[in-house]
Amino acid sequence: MSKPCILSLAVVVAASIASASLANAANNKEPIQPIAAAKTQNPALAELGKKLYFDPRLSRYGFISCNSCHNLSMGGTDNLKTSIGHNWNQGPINSPTVLNSSMSVAQFWDGRAKDLKAQAGGPIANPGEMASTHDLAVGVLQSIPAYVAEFKAVFGADKVTIDEVTKAIAAFEETLVTPNSRFDKWLKGDKKALNVNEQAGYKLFKDSGCVACHNGPAVGGNSYQKMGVVEPYKTTSKAEGRSAVTGKDADRFNFKVPTLRNVELTYPYFHDGEAATLKDAVNTMAKVQLGKKFTDEENAKVVAFLKSLTGDQPSFKLPILPPSSDSTPQPQPFKK
Ligand code: HEC
Ligand code: HEC
Repeated sequence: MSKPCILSLAVVVAASIASASLANAANNKEPIQPIAAAKTQNPALAELGKKLYFDPRLSRYGFISCNSCHNLSMGGTDNLKTSIGHNWNQGPINSPTVLNSSMSVAQFWDGRAKDLKAQAGGPIANPGEMASTHDLAVGVLQSIPAYVAEFKAVFGADKVTIDEVTKAIAAFEETLVTPNSRFDKWLKGDKKALNVNEQAGYKLFKDSGCVACHNGPAVGGNSYQKMGVVEPYKTTSKAEGRSAVTGKDADRFNFKVPTLRNVELTYPYFHDGEAATLKDAVNTMAKVQLGKKFTDEENAKVVAFLKSLTGDQPSFKLPILPPSSDSTPQPQPFKK
């Protein structure tokens, strides 16, 4: 009995390998690839990072957390043109999504942080964002016994450091990937996952040249490109893009191409947040990047395709944060 069983199993395995490689061969021809679910190497580290991500005590006024501007109930953004920071500070630039940001070449619109860990220290100490200092933030964590114990369990040391804080936050962010979008199901061979309109939208997206910049698993995130290739983009934003990092004039108005994964949720669009709707964003892109004008019908098809890129959103139990202790500095939100 057991022999034929093993044999037939082998046949099934061989057949599924063959069909998987067929599917892969088909995928290879597409400029966009499906994304895989996150594999967490160190769950305890990511769990600690999740708490820190939600903890407003990392901000000077004890009120703003990473989740304030990258709300995981809203596609990892704040859905505002530009963010509101410490003291209702008007942010200079639109808050990009943290979803799938681990796939990007670098972090920020101008790529000034090389990875998620390098990025995570920025907002805590940015006077316009969380407005704390690394010393203050670490001091707060060190005053909370349950945090000290959790850091010790994860890192094996008694002292909390900013390096550990940013490592943990980055590990949590690496879990924020969104597989299983309808588009990915379609790419993997489920031809019913997209309707005719959405498929026509994808064809337009490819044939019009959008994929020159928006490609790969994240449908972007892998290069810097000029905003306004064919026609200058008009904006009142002072952001200069990549030249702020490289100092090269040729990099002026080059921005990291944003991921279009979950773009249905991450409005408003562009670094200045000036495009309120996907319809606007698609029309502007066609015009300034490609010198094209879509009809309303074509635009609607491209938008329908883009909405098929919404994947499984992060889903987990809301982290319950350890309470402050008697020695934790009190938040003083109204102290000037
Ligand atoms: C006050 C709002 C605000 C807070 C709080 C905030 N961010 Fe951001 N975040 C932004 C804005 C705005 C940008 C874009 C800045 C830029 O590109 O110059 C950004 C960029 C990022 C990026 C880069 C994404 C990309 O695609 O380039 C990541 C990752 C990120 N933030 C994570 C965090 C983490 C982690 C925290 C908490 C430690 C945090 N943010 C706190 C507003 C905020
Ligand atoms: C030459 C490269 C290039 C081409 C071609 C291009 N894009 Fe973009 N796309 C970008 C860059 C760069 C940005 C960010 C610009 C900014 O914010 O200033 C962007 C932003 C977007 C956004 C807004 C995303 C967000 O989160 O803010 C959408 C939507 C978009 N593109 C769709 C398209 C579509 C649809 C096409 C084809 C009609 C297209 N793009 C063609 C480079 C390109």
